[in-house]
Amino acid sequence: MHVAVNAAMSVDGKLASREREQLSISGPEDFDRVEALRADCDAIMVGVGTVLADDPSLTLDDDSASANREERGQQPQPIRVVADSRARIPPDANVLDEGADTVVLVSEAVPTEHVTSLSSVGATIIEAGTSRVDLESAIRELADLGVENLLVEGGGELIFSLFEADLVDELSVYIGSLLIGGRDAPTLADGSGFTSDYPEFELVSVRRLGDGVLLEYETD
Ligand SMILES: NC(=O)c1ccc[n+]([C@@H]2O[C@H](COP(=O)([O-])OP(=O)(O)OC[C@H]3O[C@@H](n4cnc5c(N)ncnc54)[C@H](OP(=O)(O)O)[C@@H]3O)[C@@H](O)[C@H]2O)c1
Repeated sequence: MHVAVNAAMSVDGKLASREREQLSISGPEDFDRVEALRADCDAIMVGVGTVLADDPSLTLDDDSASANREERGQQPQPIRVVADSRARIPPDANVLDEGADTVVLVSEAVPTEHVTSLSSVGATIIEAGTSRVDLESAIRELADLGVENLLVEGGGELIFSLFEADLVDELSVYIGSLLIGGRDAPTLADGSGFTSDYPEFELVSVRRLGDGVLLEYETD
């Protein structure tokens, strides 16, 4: 499977404020680019932290993009995937609405009643890992569902874990022209951080987009 990570960050590398409030980091040009990335992928993945903070829908806004997917024999919307070890997503979260299929990745530590309530709103549950989602085996299971291109949209905890597990093929970062600051504000890669074997990339493109810069990397 091909795994692409995409995120927008401030000049100081923050994904949001310390209050974990979603900010307008990019602009219309980047929204269009992200919409195109979404239109091309089989599934869009986020961590439950992003769902709890932003309540995103993770669907294509553009009906013509959905129609093009159907013409190519794909589902009109990419599958939505949430890494959520204990199924903390509220059943009324936008990501569980009828706009697209949703897969929730959980661990063996998930309370049974949470699984029941997510299943009752139509989510597919994949169990992988003992206390936290084992991303490598979860991604294998997603591949079995036909996912070949996975777009990861954050947040920092999930992105770090994917790099830690060496699962990322491509990274796109939009750097908006604002500074957020705050030691507790989420960054592109949080988690416990690396102290050796730092992931390195090949810089394949640098492009001005609106008031910011888009950097595109491939992993070594
Ligand atoms: N600027 C952007 O492009 C952008 C994009 C997305 C999000 N954001 C911002 O980022 C913030 C949310 O980021 P976040 O880092 O707090 O949350 P996150 O990465 O979205 O989700 C982290 C949660 O995912 C769950 N998870 C399950 N398996 C995991 C694994 N193997 N590794 C890591 N996490 C796993 C964990 O909860 P459990 O242990 O309960 O499973 C973990 O706490 C929000 O403020 C949001 O606005 C910004």
